[in-house]
Amino acid sequence: MCGIIGCAGRGGATLDTLVHGLSKLEYRGYDSAGVALSGSEVRVEKRAGELDALRAALDDADEDLTGSVGVGHTRWSTHGPPTDENAHPHRDCTGEVAVVHNGIIENYQELRDRLTDAGHEFESDTDTEVVPHLIEERLMAGDDPETAIRAAVDQLDGSYAIAVVVAGVDRVFAARNDSPLVLGIADDAHFLASDVPAFREFTDRVVYLEDGEFAVIDADGWRVTDGAGALVDKRVHAVDWDPEETGKSGYEHYMLKEIHEQPRALRQCLRGRVNEMEGRVSLDVDFDPERVQFVACGTSYHAALCGAHLLQRSGIPAQAFLASEYATSPPPIGEDLVVGVTQSGETADTLSALREARRRGARTLAVTNVVGSTVSRECDQTLYVRAGPEIGVAATKTFAAQVVALTMLALTTDGEQRDAIAALRDLPGNVQAVLDSSTAREVAEEYVDSEAFFFIGRGLCYPVALEGALKFKEITYEHAEGFAAGELKHGPLALVTEDTPVFAVVTGDGELARKTIGNVKEVEARDAPVIAVTDGQSDVERYADHVLRIPTSEPRTAAVLANVQLQLVAYHTAAMLGRSIDKPRNLAKSVTVE
Ligand code: AGP
Repeated sequence: MCGIIGCAGRGGATLDTLVHGLSKLEYRGYDSAGVALSGSEVRVEKRAGELDALRAALDDADEDLTGSVGVGHTRWSTHGPPTDENAHPHRDCTGEVAVVHNGIIENYQELRDRLTDAGHEFESDTDTEVVPHLIEERLMAGDDPETAIRAAVDQLDGSYAIAVVVAGVDRVFAARNDSPLVLGIADDAHFLASDVPAFREFTDRVVYLEDGEFAVIDADGWRVTDGAGALVDKRVHAVDWDPEETGKSGYEHYMLKEIHEQPRALRQCLRGRVNEMEGRVSLDVDFDPERVQFVACGTSYHAALCGAHLLQRSGIPAQAFLASEYATSPPPIGEDLVVGVTQSGETADTLSALREARRRGARTLAVTNVVGSTVSRECDQTLYVRAGPEIGVAATKTFAAQVVALTMLALTTDGEQRDAIAALRDLPGNVQAVLDSSTAREVAEEYVDSEAFFFIGRGLCYPVALEGALKFKEITYEHAEGFAAGELKHGPLALVTEDTPVFAVVTGDGELARKTIGNVKEVEARDAPVIAVTDGQSDVERYADHVLRIPTSEPRTAAVLANVQLQLVAYHTAAMLGRSIDKPRNLAKSVTVE
């Protein structure tokens, strides 16, 4: 998964527009970056490393890159290491065609072998480089650029969002299959990109492309056609968030900003959906399933585990599956509803699991943050979590909003639920209270040099433990594991030493808390430092070296509060270790390959 952008109509500002767009897409990949501008010729600049390396190369260049249209790319490597050569855009042998691509061309080797035999010379290890050569082949055969690009795309198997410029043509051409692509419409300029933030500063009017569609933009207009070349009557959507929402607003990192945005995100998520007077939740989806299967990845999978737990509590049999495993070994589907939980709405593993479920006759519901994302267009229904744009690769506010959206979903089946509804009403304020009083920084300071970090919990606190560990390892690069508290004694306890702090998530004072405290005593007996994340209802604090306190709350909302403490511990530890918090090594925000 990478970020692509194309723009037409920005005149002398084309290069700046592309680089600005790439800065907003860097969350999709940051191994290398490049741009191509097209006028009478196509000129390319590209560099391994983050966008700053490209900026420096552009500053050092003898001549400014100019052109009336252009494309840009920020890369997350799939074929070949992150080098200048493997950075996009890629060109054909004549240098007149430049292509940027997000996705994977599965039949690239066979195409490359054929093109090489026909005399084409390749400069990179990428799958993408076959595309400009295929276009060149058709141009040489006499096709006009648009026909040549269509003919080239027809030969590709796999996933792609591609954008192409051709020397002497004031247009950007694009095609989509299984990778996101959105078109932006301003009064005097047009854009194509993997995601809206790339051009949000210039317009709030967007058109989402579907698989198999082609787009052409120039300064004066845009058009979308289907695989047969027929015009498609596309709906123009208005984006409802401000460009400032994708800035850092004075925070050192997007992640910290997004952690602090959680109260607002949750208010947005709840707005108009809970009726305190009637003690009811009403969502804009039909939800009356016999059984539910959740599919999701990473943090969204942890939210899905919470969702399954909450539905079971409401009497609906529910299970959460890792999307990448679901697609290869799908469980039986009866009258099940399959719910895909995905912040971006573009995660290939989740989309693939949902497609498999649909093929087998299931109804599907998307729970996503991104309006117009692929998942929202492919599923029968969509529940938006409304967290606002999330740029940091580590998911924070979207997890909180996913859990709250799934809590509301479970409540729709439950009749009157005054306690839970009051807890949801209080949740944004309680998250703010955690943010205002957290001592997570001191905890991070004390344990930053530890050998490994463990996280335990039961019931709803188990997914929180998993999420605490995922966040921690993702941004600190330290070894962190989450366990069901009861599982410790079945193996992981062998890892526990005085140098492995254990974060115990314990809320309420019931049976689960009592049993987790038993597990806490087991680690304490092995001299491991214990950090209790607790609402103070149980006596876990007696056995803890540190306490990260959360307000007392209904069990269904306590999970969100406990998780905020663990987000802060991960953030402060990573900051002390000097890690690349918003763009952790080897990762990307939107994982559009399986
Ligand atoms: C979370 O911090 C990760 N970046 C990752 O696990 C993420 O949640 C996962 O890739 C799924 O993404 P999605 O929610 O966009 O589908």
